Amino acid sequence: MTSSLAMKIDAFAKVNLTLEVFGLRPDGYHALRSVVVPVSLCDTVEVEPADELSSDSGYSDDLCLKAAKVLDPSRGARIHVVKRIPAGGGLGGGSADAAAVLIALNELWRLGHSRAELAEIGAQVGSDVPALVTGGSVLMEGRGEKVAPIECPRLNLVLCNPGVHTSTAEVYSVCKARDCADTSVNDAMMSALHSGDLEKIAAAFANDLTAAACGLHPEISEVISSLSAAGAIGVSMSGSGSTVFALVSGAERARELSAEMTAKGYASWPVVTR
Ligand code: C5P
Repeated sequence: MTSSLAMKIDAFAKVNLTLEVFGLRPDGYHALRSVVVPVSLCDTVEVEPADELSSDSGYSDDLCLKAAKVLDPSRGARIHVVKRIPAGGGLGGGSADAAAVLIALNELWRLGHSRAELAEIGAQVGSDVPALVTGGSVLMEGRGEKVAPIECPRLNLVLCNPGVHTSTAEVYSVCKARDCADTSVNDAMMSALHSGDLEKIAAAFANDLTAAACGLHPEISEVISSLSAAGAIGVSMSGSGSTVFALVSGAERARELSAEMTAKGYASWPVVTR
């Protein structure tokens, strides 16, 4: 039974419009720079008071439990997640759930942390958590812990997942890092977002993990080719894959293209940026 004190919040997936990977840091993580944008596909996370901490996600590396323990290891809560975001798909599903748990338990446990404090705490849970706690579009840097809000126009996207799970650690381990001094990718995306021009935004898409992920899972290349051939304005991979997103001109075109991809046997969602 759901307690009247239960809190339910939506945990939105993200796409990386850019993802630049620089050198390996002394802590074993890569320095990166990424434009991270939330989209309308979401999980729903519910927390309610309980003596013990528990989660029904079924994942062995449950980021919801990790988030709750990092927030306050001495307290209990029952966490229930309705999953819609595919796992291992580069859409930040696990991180979005963890971010939602931090926000909800901060309320339930009356801890009084600000969003900025929760983002800092979230960095201990996963690299994408600070961005997703912050909410809205952000420029993410460092290992993922430095986040700054940015403006992003409303974009109609089609998400398409080829049904393979990528290992983020494996993809990072075989990717080719770029020269840290080069700001051209970010400059191009910032100027494109500012202009609101869809062609320019699509031309500025970049993901340094694409070659590594496609090398490990050729199914991702097939989705990229298929969406490009269908006439999308631009196509790119999100995070470490395996989900690919296509930019299209409107909600109707997004629904049509998503239906075409579903008919081809892929998991696909028409979404809009938030
Ligand atoms: O932080 P998170 O648990 O999401 O990272 C998963 C893996 O991705 C890390 O263990 C690491 O191998 C890789 N990673 C990285 N550099 C980052 C973020 C993630 O190398 N900035």
